[in-house]
Amino acid sequence: MEKELVNKLKYLISKKKSLQEICETLELKDYEVIGIVELLKQDGELIDYVNGEIIKLKKPIKSNETYEIPNNMEHIKLLLISDTHLGSKYDRLDILRYLYAKAEDNKVNYVLHSGDLTEGLSGRPQQLYELKENSYTGQRDYVIDKYPKSDIPTYLISGNHDLWWIKQCGSDILKDICMQRENLHYLGSDCEDLKIGKLKIRLYHGKGGGSYAKSYKLQKYLDTISLEERPHILQTGHIHQAFYMKQDKTHCFQTSCLQDLTPFERSMGFNNDKSCWWVDIDMDDKGNPVLIKQELEIFNKKLMRK
Ligand SMILES: [Fe+2]
Repeated sequence: MEKELVNKLKYLISKKKSLQEICETLELKDYEVIGIVELLKQDGELIDYVNGEIIKLKKPIKSNETYEIPNNMEHIKLLLISDTHLGSKYDRLDILRYLYAKAEDNKVNYVLHSGDLTEGLSGRPQQLYELKENSYTGQRDYVIDKYPKSDIPTYLISGNHDLWWIKQCGSDILKDICMQRENLHYLGSDCEDLKIGKLKIRLYHGKGGGSYAKSYKLQKYLDTISLEERPHILQTGHIHQAFYMKQDKTHCFQTSCLQDLTPFERSMGFNNDKSCWWVDIDMDDKGNPVLIKQELEIFNKKLMRK
């Protein structure tokens, strides 16, 4: 398909133009436009033809508790991130900006975020001294304004810090943010399943404190999923540390954070890695995913320029 035509079509859909207006602008017949929409859907574009109009979806369609993104690509590139804690004085927007620029250069298909997008408000008095923004609207607008803008779709779940806002003021901050930002797609809280083509992914934030060995909780969690239901990729967050392990058919990516160590974490004796995972997957002849690359990129205190 001609890229210029596709971009024009996507623009018209984003502007909520009617099918008739789209046909007139692109000088195409309605069945031609609907045909292009069907092809774009097969590439994972969140659009659909419903009741005679083309609409933009905010989330993929969910069936059997799994969000399904059609995808017939032979090679899928992912960037896995977590625990950005935006709105904290210790957040690292510079790393996020660098990562999205690099993801675009490397033609990454999807960014996955496994929770704690925002710092939240815990109720712990000292936390107020660690915040750039200390209100719901402050953190919400900070993320809407500052989160890197990109054509790469980002799928997110909320973590315990995001969910504090529901306790504080009854509002789901990620739902609110993602309604106002193109290409940020909120799947739900704490644990959601996503299927990109045949690639099964579970995003899980996690709860509670650390464990004696950092892989222990993840291993125990994997045991709670029956073998036939296990995803190809399990991405977890929460503990602000990174590691990879493979058990049976599941590649487990414990994804760390993109936040400097806070005074609270220091006083509690918590560790804090700053990193992300770059993951490439090939589909074999039978359409089954084969992991061909998992690269951990680690960051330090130095500001990123890109
Ligand atoms: Fe976190």
